[in-house]
Amino acid sequence: MTEPYENELRARFGLDIPLGEVPDAPWLRQVLMRRTQRRYADRAVPDSLVRLLLAAAFSASSKSDFQQASAIWLKDRARRDRLAALFPDMPWIGAAPVFLVFLGDARRLERLGELRGHRPDNGALEGFFNAAIDAALALQTCVLAAETVGLGTCPISVLRNHIAVVAEILALPDKVFPVAGLCLGYPAQAGFISMRLPLAATVHIDAHDDSHLAEAVDGYDRRRDARHSIKDRQRAPERFGTAEFYGWSEDKARQATDPEGVGFATWLRAHGFTLGEPDASKV
Ligand SMILES: Cc1cc2nc3c(=O)[nH]c(=O)nc-3n(C[C@H](O)[C@H](O)[C@H](O)COP(=O)(O)O)c2cc1C
Repeated sequence: MTEPYENELRARFGLDIPLGEVPDAPWLRQVLMRRTQRRYADRAVPDSLVRLLLAAAFSASSKSDFQQASAIWLKDRARRDRLAALFPDMPWIGAAPVFLVFLGDARRLERLGELRGHRPDNGALEGFFNAAIDAALALQTCVLAAETVGLGTCPISVLRNHIAVVAEILALPDKVFPVAGLCLGYPAQAGFISMRLPLAATVHIDAHDDSHLAEAVDGYDRRRDARHSIKDRQRAPERFGTAEFYGWSEDKARQATDPEGVGFATWLRAHGFTLGEPDASKV
């Protein structure tokens, strides 16, 4: 007899994870098997369905009920082409049947203040952080909703690598920033499941403890390599040399030495955010 979710857990983690007694929920099977899709069939996604997905997205929970997420549904082809041209190595940005951009919108709360005559300042790190989280939750809720009806998605955070031009194309006012775009469409291929770190590395009981990280990552690297080797795609060998065993952790450690999002903090500070502590003297 198979254990509950055995196949899905093996697909996700490359491991057998005994769960004990758990409810059988088909939707959870689908979540465990979810994957990003970057190639889409030549099949339109009806506007009515996009509206439904947006309604689901904005049903996500929201810090303090402040509702600081916004989305732009980028329908105008010329604007979309300008945006896509900034990222030629990600052709799915221009090719996906639907493209949304999820925004952290710290401006709306200040506008509410103006309307009500209270004038909150929402430019501290707290305001930025809360807006970013709300937008990320809406994004992921949209992803899961889309996958539930057979669509594929790909979040697009590279938008922030050309933040000034993207903000101009999308006419973003101060205190509004992109968290990520989202490509949507019917998948053109099955795609593949990206194996995750074992729960032993990501879940801590009672207190943070990463003393066994090295062993957990080593085992993960080997399992991932056995399923899908990337040894022939070594990143920047001229800087790092050629590794005999090239696993996920070596790849990510190399990738992380290249700074991303350079200029984002400067752009945020030039567009209304101080990113500091809230001004307690105003209370
Ligand atoms: C916030 C966020 C931003 C992302 N940005 C990009 C992106 O700019 N381009 C891209 O092709 N994929 C992007 N992705 C997709 C990730 O690469 C993908 O989720 C990851 O490789 C794990 O794969 P999986 O979602 O299939 O499990 C992003 C994902 C997230 C959550």
